[in-house]
Amino acid sequence: MNILILGSGGREHALAWKIRQSEKTNKLFIAPGNAGTEMIGENVSVLATDFSAIKHLVLEKDINMVVVGPEVSLVNGIYDFFINDSELKNIPVIGPSKEGAKLEGSKKFGKEFMLRNNIPTAKYKSVTKETLKGGIQFLESMSPPFVLKADGLAAGKGVIILNDRLDAINVLNTMLAGMFGKSSQTVVIEEFLSGIECSVFVMSDGKDYKILPVAKDYKRIGEGDTGLNTGGMGAISPVPFADNVFMDKVRERIIEPTISGLAKENIVYKGFIFIGLISVGNEPFVIEYNVRLGDPETEVIIPRIKSDFVELLKGVANGNLQDKTLEIDERYAATVMLVSGGYPDVYEKDKIIDGLNSMNDSLVFHAGTVAKKGSVYTAGGRVLAITSYGKTKHDALEKSFKVAEEVTFDKKYYRKDIGFDL
Ligand code: AMP
Ligand code: GLY
Repeated sequence: MNILILGSGGREHALAWKIRQSEKTNKLFIAPGNAGTEMIGENVSVLATDFSAIKHLVLEKDINMVVVGPEVSLVNGIYDFFINDSELKNIPVIGPSKEGAKLEGSKKFGKEFMLRNNIPTAKYKSVTKETLKGGIQFLESMSPPFVLKADGLAAGKGVIILNDRLDAINVLNTMLAGMFGKSSQTVVIEEFLSGIECSVFVMSDGKDYKILPVAKDYKRIGEGDTGLNTGGMGAISPVPFADNVFMDKVRERIIEPTISGLAKENIVYKGFIFIGLISVGNEPFVIEYNVRLGDPETEVIIPRIKSDFVELLKGVANGNLQDKTLEIDERYAATVMLVSGGYPDVYEKDKIIDGLNSMNDSLVFHAGTVAKKGSVYTAGGRVLAITSYGKTKHDALEKSFKVAEEVTFDKKYYRKDIGFDL
C-alpha cells in the first residue's frame, strides 16, 4: 500500500517509523513532514489543512490510505471531503467524520455527548453572551478553582483555571468578547476536579475498539509541573496507577459507552479517540476528548506496539478491527522533549543540531526540524523527542536523559523530572 501521513510533528514521525516497518507499506509520504520523516519516507510540501492539494497528491501518488495526525484537518472535515468526492471516496481516511470530530472541536458538544451517554465528567454549564447571567450564577454557586474552556479549538491554550471568582467572571467576559475569536463565543464553565491525569488511546472501526497503551504527558515548561503550558515536554507509558482495576472502570464507564454512543447517534468514527482522564480517588472522569493521537504520548505508545500497525489501521478502515491482534511490549517507554530557547513564548530557530548519531538504542523522533545543506536545523518550539525503553520507568528515563544531554543545539532545554509524580 502507498500511505500518506498528514502532519509534521513528533507524533507523525513516530507513526511514520512504525508504518515504515510494515511489510504492507510500499511507498510512504508525509505532508509536510520534518527532517526525521524525510529519512524514512518522502516529504511532500503540502499542508495538512489544504484539502484540494491533498486530493491532487493522493491521486498523483496513487495513495491507498491517509492517516491524519492533527485535529484541525479532522475538525475541518477531511473525512467527509474524501467520502463526498467521487475520485477519493474509496480511499480510507483514518480519523472521524466531521460530526465525530466535534468531540474535540466543540467542548460543549463533547460535554453534551457525555451527559447523554452517562459518561463521568465534571459538572458544567455552557455559556454565550446571551446566557452570561446564568454563567455568573453558576460561578457563584461553585467553590474555587474555576475552570473556563473556550468551546472551539484554541491551539491548546483555551483552558483557563482561576482561583478568584471575580477574576473568573472577568475572564469569562473577555473570552465571550473574543479572546479566542470564534472559538470562545461559547465558553464551558466546569467544576474543578482534583486528581492525577493520564491519556487513554483507543482505536475504533465504529463498532469494535482496541485500547492502546496508556500514557502520561507533562505539559508545563518548568520542573515540578510549573510555568506555562506547552505542547508537551515528555511522556511515559505505562502509567502505574492505570492498573487493571482502574482500566476495567475506564472500559465499562467510559470507553464502551463512548463507542456505543457514537454508533447509536450514527456518528461515523473510524479512527483514534484520545480520552484525557483524571483519576479522582481512583475513579476515572473524562477531562476531555481529542479525536487524534496525542503528542508526545504517541512517541511512547507507538514504540510499545509490537503488532503490525498497518494491519490495525486496515482493520479500522475495513470494519474488521476485531480480527486483528494488538500485542504490547511489556517494557516502559519514556520520551523527553528537547525544546528551543524561549519556548513556549517566542523561541529561537535555525540552530544547527549536533550529536544525532550518538543514539545507542534510543529512538529520536523529530518534531520541529528541517534538513538543510546536509545538516539538521531547529525549526520549531519542540524540536526532538528522545524515546527509550527500559525494564523500569527509571531505566527508560535514564537512557533518554543521557541522549538528551548528548544531542546539542544552541539554547536547548528539556525537563529533567519527567515521571517525577508516578
Ligand atoms: P484541556 O485543554 O481540556 O486538556 O485542559 C488542559 C488542562 O486543564 C487539563 O490537562 C487539566 O490539567 C486541566 N483541566 C481541564 N479541565 C479540568 C477540570 N474540570 N478540573 C481540573 N483540571 C482541569
Ligand atoms: N499531549 C496532549 C495533546 O496531544 O493534546
